[in-house]
Amino acid sequence: MYSSLLTELTNGICTITINRPDKLNALNRTVIEELGAAIEEVYNNKEIKSAIITGSGPKAFVAGADISEFTSLGSKGGEALAQKGQEMVFSKIENCSKPIVAAVNGFALGGGCELAMACHFRLASEHAKFGQPEVNLGLIPGYGGTQRLTQLIQKGKAMELMMTGNMIDANEAKQLGLVNYVTTPESLLDKTKELLSLINTKAPLAISKIIVLTNMAAYGAPGGLQKEMAAFGDLFDTADAKEGTTAFLEKRKPLFTGK
Ligand code: COA
Repeated sequence: MYSSLLTELTNGICTITINRPDKLNALNRTVIEELGAAIEEVYNNKEIKSAIITGSGPKAFVAGADISEFTSLGSKGGEALAQKGQEMVFSKIENCSKPIVAAVNGFALGGGCELAMACHFRLASEHAKFGQPEVNLGLIPGYGGTQRLTQLIQKGKAMELMMTGNMIDANEAKQLGLVNYVTTPESLLDKTKELLSLINTKAPLAISKIIVLTNMAAYGAPGGLQKEMAAFGDLFDTADAKEGTTAFLEKRKPLFTGK
């Protein structure tokens, strides 16, 4: 169905694998378009409860936007490329009501680091490397890096990484708060699936509100506390909140339906 992606749906978890290992899974136009379509499927397919984004091969998650497509671009083309990517993929992932998690299996550079950062959280294999090397090309991050890196790690470190273009390894990324867990390469997908399997047992409407409200906080959007109170209230009218509270009092596990 896709030429540059592999997708697999098991137990409600859709695994999306970017599959251009010979080009270190660089994001060319086709990958961006296909990722857009795959994320759209995550939005619309009721069987999908959550998703993983990962890269094919042992070396790279995504080594950035495809630099070979940069040579013909001028200012309008560059801005359009960034805008299309944000709309079709990066912001779409960030605002998805279902959890989307990055399993970073190798280089996550430039647009690759930005793709991981657009996800709701990140796990990394111990071989993973992160960086925003656009400055080496005379450019800056264009898929949200200046904003999301500064949300996720301390501002001074974000500035240093973007200004030097230096890479950091998985353990440093964990220390900085960029990734939640570092695993062996072999256990990366299992650990990611384990976490999502747990999250998939929770109430989907509550999860979707957590995503919206946490994103508001990350962007410093005004009115977050008010929106949280309203959302907290709204959830009391859901069947899942009734089920969750009743199950607790009846000392049994809740069975949520997303209603
Ligand atoms: N865009 C296009 N092609 C890329 C790419 C990118 N961002 N990153 C890697 N590739 C291609 C290489 O051109 C090479 O293709 P070839 O075999 O046809 O020559 C192939 O992927 C393998 O990469 P290579 O550079 O040979 O691997 P390496 O192990 O020597 O180096 C990196 C790995 C990640 C350090 C290096 O590929 C790199 O610096 N990539 C660019 C990273 C970057 O600047 N990203 C931000 C872009 S905005």
